[in-house]
Amino acid sequence: MTGIRLHAPRPGWSVDADVVVVGSGVAGLTVALRCAAAGAHVTVVTKARLDDGSTRWAQGGIAAALGEGDTPEQHLDDTLVAGAGLCDDEAVRTLVTEGPDAVRRLIATGALFDTDDETGEILLTREGGHHRRRIAHAGGDATGAEISRALVEAVRAAGIETIEHALVLDLLKDADGRAAGVTLHVMGEGERDGVGAVRAKAVVLATGGMGQVFSATTNPPVSTGDGVALALRAGAEVSDLEFVQFHPTVLWLGPDAEGQQPLVSEAVRGEGAHLVDADGHRFMVGAHELAELAPRDIVAKGITRRMQELGAEHMYLDARHFGAEMWAHRFPTILAACRAHGIDPVTQPIPVAPAAHYASGGVRTDLHGRTTVPGLYACGEVACTGVHGANRLASNSLLEGLVFAERIAADIAASGPAAPHAAGTTAGPSAGHAPDTPLLAPEARFAIQRIMTAGAGVLRSAESLARAAAELDRLRAEATDALEADGKTAEPGTESWEATNLWFVARVLVAAALRREETRGCHWREDFPDRADTTWRRHLLVSLRPDRTLEVVGTDSAAFPAKTPQAVPTPAPAVLKETP
Ligand code: SIN
Repeated sequence: MTGIRLHAPRPGWSVDADVVVVGSGVAGLTVALRCAAAGAHVTVVTKARLDDGSTRWAQGGIAAALGEGDTPEQHLDDTLVAGAGLCDDEAVRTLVTEGPDAVRRLIATGALFDTDDETGEILLTREGGHHRRRIAHAGGDATGAEISRALVEAVRAAGIETIEHALVLDLLKDADGRAAGVTLHVMGEGERDGVGAVRAKAVVLATGGMGQVFSATTNPPVSTGDGVALALRAGAEVSDLEFVQFHPTVLWLGPDAEGQQPLVSEAVRGEGAHLVDADGHRFMVGAHELAELAPRDIVAKGITRRMQELGAEHMYLDARHFGAEMWAHRFPTILAACRAHGIDPVTQPIPVAPAAHYASGGVRTDLHGRTTVPGLYACGEVACTGVHGANRLASNSLLEGLVFAERIAADIAASGPAAPHAAGTTAGPSAGHAPDTPLLAPEARFAIQRIMTAGAGVLRSAESLARAAAELDRLRAEATDALEADGKTAEPGTESWEATNLWFVARVLVAAALRREETRGCHWREDFPDRADTTWRRHLLVSLRPDRTLEVVGTDSAAFPAKTPQAVPTPAPAVLKETP
């Protein structure tokens, strides 16, 4: 093993596979199914239960040019506009052209989308940034739950080995630096209890997002950035971490609400709901040609500005005109969530405010899902394929998971028969000379969330980001001092590993956000309010050096380079002396 690793007991057990997939959302389960269909021995490792990832919370749907008159070219145009000049054109073209067939294959796998009673055609809705009805949905507003159900059933039917309640810790590498498996901690009793290893020729990270880095998020508690943190420690490049998408309409539960918050899908606006302030004024009308259906970053900014102007804690989404029947039929999940919190959308406007929703950046990949570490792939929200640019177009994420999962499976199949596990290498549970990184105590999770919400939230500045960086560094210094002074670190365990992972992703996010001195997509800088194409139409690639400094380099355009770029001049020095 090389690189930096989490402080953890040595693995006490191991299993072998051809491919280990970490994560069980649409991306992970699709990779697993396609690899298994090609004859590979696949093991799926998942942090909670197989159906507990982020996919199941997706409401609106999956975008693809399936409707009459729609074309991949139009889907491409909308994706590029939403991405604010930072999409990789080739990645987007791949997404939109391969998307419709990937959705058809998902349907063949068993996912049931809502269809017209008479024609049997798939029903399509609209969401922000789409100029057409293009979003297929299931169960009204329970699209992710249906996709998850279908894929979990297919994985079980295919007899794919799964390890549930398992937090992945670090990457195993062979003597050549190739991925050779993962270490993980299983919370259970019996043979696979405690820290172990899955050794495999290919490792696919499909661990989802990092929304828990902020106090209020639509993400489930498991979204602690584990995949991005693992990839960083393994020496992989991450990109675009500064582009965190804040969903404009999250049910407002009070100023101190923390953790996962109920989403009110953009599809509600797609079906005609209005955003209004306390006086009933539709403040998005005139702010953008698409009004409430402008791209997500623009609506989130519109809401935040109006809140600031009025000194209000939230705005309202008014869909009383839908009537009781439409609410019950089309949006049963949202209706139930609102009513559970004492709001009846049939008779009341819904209080809403932006909350952290989606990481547009992640572990940098090429068009086959390959990261900069050989044998390590990334797919879904953990990955940065270049599809989303500075702001993901609504409902493109499930599609990205599907399309790139299939590409990864094809790449793994094309790379030939599985080599004997770790043969002739130093990989495996007994290897491991990498320096440990001190663990943060479980309570650090809440400190990190508060620091990030205050300093790196929807609106940022050099001052707020520098403060966040200093406070994060202080948290880290306390852990390092304790380790150096008396060899003590927080007790290894799920909560301290998660807190440490959150710290890693928070620190990189802040470093990138501080560096990007402009406003673009969902990165909104108070002190640099304009988009600066001449200097900033480029990505920031971040990697963790063995000496624990962060290296931040810029690409020379919005397209991802085929290989790691040399330090292309950025408007600031290339290496940050920040020491995780
Ligand atoms: C939503 O339903 O509004 C969320 C869809 C998405 O994040 O793509």
